[in-house]
Amino acid sequence: MAVLRILATSLMIVMTATFVFVDAGDTNEVYSPCMDSKVERSDGFSFGVAFAPKEKFFYNNTQLSPCDSRLALSSSNSQISVFRPKVDEISLLTINSSSVTSDSSDYMVAFAGRRYAARSPPAFVANSTYTVTSFTLVLEFNKGRLQNLYWKRDGCAKCSGNSNFVCLNNQDCALKTTSCKDHGGTVDCSLGIQTAFSGTDKHLSVLNSWYEVENLRQYSLYGLYSNLRDSLTSEFNKFF
Ligand SMILES: *[C@@H]1O[C@H](CO)[C@@H](O)[C@H](O)[C@H]1NC(C)=O
Ligand SMILES: *[C@@H]1O[C@H](CO)[C@@H](O)[C@H](O)[C@H]1NC(C)=O
Ligand SMILES: *[C@@H]1O[C@H](CO)[C@@H](O)[C@H](O)[C@H]1NC(C)=O
Repeated sequence: MAVLRILATSLMIVMTATFVFVDAGDTNEVYSPCMDSKVERSDGFSFGVAFAPKEKFFYNNTQLSPCDSRLALSSSNSQISVFRPKVDEISLLTINSSSVTSDSSDYMVAFAGRRYAARSPPAFVANSTYTVTSFTLVLEFNKGRLQNLYWKRDGCAKCSGNSNFVCLNNQDCALKTTSCKDHGGTVDCSLGIQTAFSGTDKHLSVLNSWYEVENLRQYSLYGLYSNLRDSLTSEFNKFF
């Protein structure tokens, strides 16, 4: 009994200490994805992901940041999710599939910043035929300022030979939308976005998590999320 109590107490202290440490480590006071920030390694970094039909991301044939009011995304029913991963850590961000509507063709764009605005190219997520559930997003910094956001793809190596998947445009492993739970199927088609950081922070420290992702061969984090198992490919079953 006493031992248990001591254990429980020290566990609480450890947890509190970790929390305080994490909290104190984040010096970035910018929480809006539509504002500029300059980060260091222990900071959190806010960015947004907007979901809409592809053409909604363009104005006069130019792709603008979703923060740009000329796109009028807010008046067109598009979904925006905001995330705040820790700089230089690998994070797996998930979005419940029910918030991604595949009634029309949905694309997503990751974005952050105002004067130093960066946005990713639109990535196909889902339509009534196909749903793509796993993505890797690289956030590239220069001296702590976001320079670039891009989707890292590794072809369809991870789903080749798996009959549950279809390879779209030689780059994305897609499930049939009818196999997703909210379309009458059995698979949880929640979206997973693994983020990694590259480049340098404001003290010129090198951000390494990108290399770690490569070494982990991506997707290792998915193993922690058992509900996402079904939407993953057999190559990664070894992690579960
Ligand atoms: C649209 O783009 C063209 C060519 O770049 C430019 O000449 C025109 O002024 C733009 N129109 C608007 C409304 O921004
Ligand atoms: C998504 O939301 C639905 C309904 O709220 C819930 O039943 C389901 O468990 C959620 N899925 C995940 C992965 O959180
Ligand atoms: C769904 O998207 C795929 C891949 O982009 C495309 O080939 C297909 O025509 C689309 N289907 C519908 C019904 O929009």
